[in-house]
Amino acid sequence: MNGTFPKDFIFGGASAAYQVEGATKEDGKGRVLWDDFLEKQGRFSPDPAADFYHHYDEDLALSQKYGVQALRLSIAWSRIFPDGDGAVEPRGVAYYHRVFAACKEHHVEPFVTLHHFDTPEKLHEEGDWLSQHMLDAFVDYAKFCFKEFPEVKYWITINEPTSMAVQQYTSGTFPPAETGRFDKTFQAEHNQLVAHARIVNAYKEMNLGGQIGIVHALQTVYPYSDSPADQHAAALQDALENRLYLDGSLAGVYAPETLALVQEIVDKNDEPMFKTTPEELAELKLAATQLDFVGVNNYFSKWLKAYAGASETHHNGTGAKGTSVSRLHGIGEEKLPEGIETTDWDWPIYPRGMHDILMRIQNDYPLTKAIYVTENGIGLKEELPAGATDDTVIPDPKRIDYLGKYLNAIADAIKDGANVKGYFIWSLQDQFSWTNGYSKRYGLFFVDFPTQKRYIKQSASWFKQVSDTHVIPD
Ligand code: FCB
Repeated sequence: MNGTFPKDFIFGGASAAYQVEGATKEDGKGRVLWDDFLEKQGRFSPDPAADFYHHYDEDLALSQKYGVQALRLSIAWSRIFPDGDGAVEPRGVAYYHRVFAACKEHHVEPFVTLHHFDTPEKLHEEGDWLSQHMLDAFVDYAKFCFKEFPEVKYWITINEPTSMAVQQYTSGTFPPAETGRFDKTFQAEHNQLVAHARIVNAYKEMNLGGQIGIVHALQTVYPYSDSPADQHAAALQDALENRLYLDGSLAGVYAPETLALVQEIVDKNDEPMFKTTPEELAELKLAATQLDFVGVNNYFSKWLKAYAGASETHHNGTGAKGTSVSRLHGIGEEKLPEGIETTDWDWPIYPRGMHDILMRIQNDYPLTKAIYVTENGIGLKEELPAGATDDTVIPDPKRIDYLGKYLNAIADAIKDGANVKGYFIWSLQDQFSWTNGYSKRYGLFFVDFPTQKRYIKQSASWFKQVSDTHVIPD
């Protein structure tokens, strides 16, 4: 099948400041929650990453050459406000002006995320998204950026609120690495949605003419079997991973059935329900009516089987994101049906799940104006062949196969009525990964980290063909 895309459909690449910039100690940048955490772990360093701080022009030139029409990138909050709030660092501001000017020169449209997992250290120590001061500081930082960078026409408030909170307070893979705290997880997620709503509403009040959206990590959750117990386990997992945040950001109201599922999860764990105020709920409602788009990050799906046993110790960093969370909390256990292929990191490859989550947003959230797939791609173990020259092309047939299947599923969803306006491959160039360091490569462009030289992967030429023709080749 050769999926086709509307003429104005955008093909882009994705990145995040901390994963790509490197230069974490340069030009007055403040520390973030990861610095201490990674130093203590001693497994890998965020420097040099892809040294985008010094290679942005080269990467944007390559983007232009290979049909990448837009780049999702994030601003490192602590380059602009090293302490999170207070004094501005002009060198950080100047850097992003240079990046956006290079985007313009190379005809690459920037889609700019304000928070991609990199809370400034001081604010993190005060409680991160659990602290009201963090919310105030975030609103000030966002307003500063809206005023300072009118050249940006597409803003993204927060990347993956759920995955941030779950990994901080439930599975413990992100700092402060707490485990088994659903109360904190839900509160941090709600607080992120409130912060998101405040800046959507502020942006609309400023009348700057651009568009603003949020990015969610969404995986379709299927019951392992038709049994009512498995169906209920899937509904609980879905409430935890998708439904609460889709409701809060796209409908602007948490549906009673959604809240009942969340209540069941916290009750099972003897924890209190998250708190809201009437003012916050009004802010969520207003923001949902003003939101221009939702971004979907989808890599895999999940299958849930009812689990009746006692809590178990979970295993950090194995399997799909959050794998062990459900088991730990008696929601259910993940079980892969036979015949479903997985990546080297055990992420199930299931393009139908992409189609289904896009249709669900289109059908269940009628306020949604547009959908972008803001992340999708496959992590592979790749190496530079011995004796490589400048012209060496890195073969990555597995990536081409994965992208073809997922893009076909997106084309199907568009045919079925989903208003999907663009696709961003994770990632543009190989980057640093939060929990796997440098072993997991996602890029269209290969980065030889020691020399910072870029090489083209086969998938880059394939991507160019898709972007030029808007048709997926055989
Ligand atoms: C997403 C993150 C992104 C990247 C990919 C693989 O959860 O948004 O930063 O690590 O996963």
